[in-house]
Amino acid sequence: MKAQTIEKSMVNRELIGGERKSAIDSSKSLKQIVVSSWAISDIELIGIGGFSPLEGFMGQEDYERVVKELRLKDGTVWSIPITLPVTEDRAKEISTGEEVALVGEDGITYGTIKVEEKYTYDKDLEAKNVYGTTDEAHPGVKKVYEKGNVYLGGPITLLNRPDHGGFEDYYLDPAETRQMFKDLGWKTIVGFQTRNPVHRAHEHIQKTALEAVDGLLLNPLVGETKSDDIPADVRMESYETILKNYYVEDRVRLVIYPAAMRYAGPREAILHAIVRRNYGCTHFIVGRDHAGVGDYYGTYDAQDLISEYEDELDISIFKFEHAFYCEVCENMASAKTCPHDKKHHVHLSGTKVRELLRNGERPPKEFSRPEVADVLIKGMKQN
Ligand code: ADX
Repeated sequence: MKAQTIEKSMVNRELIGGERKSAIDSSKSLKQIVVSSWAISDIELIGIGGFSPLEGFMGQEDYERVVKELRLKDGTVWSIPITLPVTEDRAKEISTGEEVALVGEDGITYGTIKVEEKYTYDKDLEAKNVYGTTDEAHPGVKKVYEKGNVYLGGPITLLNRPDHGGFEDYYLDPAETRQMFKDLGWKTIVGFQTRNPVHRAHEHIQKTALEAVDGLLLNPLVGETKSDDIPADVRMESYETILKNYYVEDRVRLVIYPAAMRYAGPREAILHAIVRRNYGCTHFIVGRDHAGVGDYYGTYDAQDLISEYEDELDISIFKFEHAFYCEVCENMASAKTCPHDKKHHVHLSGTKVRELLRNGERPPKEFSRPEVADVLIKGMKQN
């Protein structure tokens, strides 16, 4: 797809002003479905066009083709099912053709769905194909088995965007980031997904990519993550700190990505690239074990899978080898650029880093900038 075609096909399913007010009023007489925070972030991303071309939760044909072939029914590449699960009992109470209010546990009506389809699905197949495993120890797979057995499909309308806590200053929707890039005069923009505090390898691959483009969109995911990931507020402070101390202000913008983390590795890398294209990026970084968890995926599985679809995504993928600090090179490097033995490479596991931080100790400066380490030590004490 050419950039102009994408611009035209950007979805906007959000009501504003008087239309929104009257839709909120009339939603009070609709049946309600209580939706999870995961579903709320999907409603938001569909509504604001982050998930373009999706206009709602997937119907059966789209769903099955995505699970089996990584494509929507019209052939467009799409890698992760975006679905609205309900229990069988709840599904019986809802008729196809009916408009239903989507209400959070906080009582807020985030949107409505016009239910066009109700269908059951094969959980084992979804787990196996999307996550590569049926092991319920996988956080994404666990969700699949916990969900209701029926999916409702149909277009949604976004009525209330969720509250993003202290991050409102960093919230822009895709139309706004596109405009921002135009205003900045950036023609080429690399998007960076992250769900972790920033470390030296992140910084290295971001800056290496930045050498080749006009600007960097640092786009951390702040929706639901697994409980042992570092909380988003601590991570945001780590990004603010590193930007202030080590980045050129005019070349980077920090904007939150309000999605839930699925930990679907290779398939999620494709979703992440599609969404960043929708936010207006021309390039996207996929490094080692992108969106992975535990040992479920190989180091470069995400790069291999996205390579198969890259021609159709209208965003170029910067693939990075596993990066590390080499004590002999005295800089960040990878197997592509460093000839020295592994013993000279600074490697720290996530568990080791957490242990150091919990004890109030900074990881080596070759691993983490001291200013960032201090933010994380403080964050560990508070959480
Ligand atoms: S992710 O789940 O959001 O992918 P993380 O925040 O750790 O996790 O990674 C963000 C991006 O940086 C991903 O593209 C990932 O592949 C890449 N990355 C993380 N660490 C490294 C590393 N040491 N070398 C190369 N790429 C890395």
